[in-house]
Amino acid sequence: MKVGMIGWRGMVGSVLMQRMVEENDFDRIDAMFFSTSQAGQAGPTVSGKSSTLLDAHNIDALAAMDVILTCQGGDYTKQVHPALRAAGWTGYWIDAASALRMDPDSTIVLDPVNDDVIAEAVAAGKKDFIGGNCTVSLMMMGLAGLFREDLVEWCSTMTYQAASGAGARAMRELISQMGALHGSVADLLIDKDSSIIDVDSGINECFKSSTFPTEECGAALAGSLIAWIDSDLENGQSREEWKAEAETNKILERSGDAIIPVDGLCVRVGAMRCHSQALTIKLRKDLPLSEIESIIGAANEWTEFVPNTKEASTAKLSPAYVSGSLNVPVGRLRKMSFGPEYLCAFTVGDQLLWGAAEPIRRMLRLLG
Ligand code: HSE
Repeated sequence: MKVGMIGWRGMVGSVLMQRMVEENDFDRIDAMFFSTSQAGQAGPTVSGKSSTLLDAHNIDALAAMDVILTCQGGDYTKQVHPALRAAGWTGYWIDAASALRMDPDSTIVLDPVNDDVIAEAVAAGKKDFIGGNCTVSLMMMGLAGLFREDLVEWCSTMTYQAASGAGARAMRELISQMGALHGSVADLLIDKDSSIIDVDSGINECFKSSTFPTEECGAALAGSLIAWIDSDLENGQSREEWKAEAETNKILERSGDAIIPVDGLCVRVGAMRCHSQALTIKLRKDLPLSEIESIIGAANEWTEFVPNTKEASTAKLSPAYVSGSLNVPVGRLRKMSFGPEYLCAFTVGDQLLWGAAEPIRRMLRLLG
């Protein structure tokens, strides 16, 4: 299987490459590496084979591939995908970008949740397989068991999203902001007798200083948060919030009266690469908590049920614990005071792994 790799050097692409090496995926495919700017130069060596970069805008070269696997971004997808299809190419297009996600011919891939939908799409001859929004994929990984048993009547997701979702430059800026804040009060911190009110005033001044770096994030993220993600849909919702219901139901192939309402507020916090979410879930029926815990924990090998204790929650329900791992812990599970069908839960997942690279890596693997 000839697989054209595009955008393999960016942040999601690099995580994808790392996972493909770890899982020996390159031993099973004939990988060709494309570049939008460095065609002809040496590409990466994988499975002992060196490579020369091909031109990512050369439709003939792309059309020689059985599969295109791209992390290049939505602009590239919008430009190249229609041209390639117009040229008669019938290969599989696997994409991390959102551009084609809601296209009627596309399938959003998250196989631990929708392997049945993916299998049907492949059997039906569909060719476009797109990774979901990171927040949606991570919420669905956490609640995979409840969705599989069709127990969710509706779900509210209040998110705490990491800088990585805004890109590599936002991650760098987050650390620069942290450094600026620390630097502004470093002397006061060394002096153990200094007033915390003076430390706090120093931090406040730093936030307001014209040299405080906010070009990428648009506002202070370190020591603060940003209560809006993605564009304004002008109905009060951000695009990130709109995706929750739209993509959840597309992933599950639910429409019309079967739609599961999913809504909430999306907030950026100063975590590096793990998105967290506080969930309020209305179940279709009252079930004992022990049963709900088993359904959640047994859903797949990555979803980890975390007992609702202070110790376990502090240790495991955090970006610091999850970063770089495929584990998706789900905890703080309890019935809410609203009634026996109302649950709350908290989940954390790596935005670059299950939130981006892993579903598309596994889609390639499913193809052969
Ligand atoms: N839109 C997400 C975020 C990342 O801003 O965190 C990509 O799915």
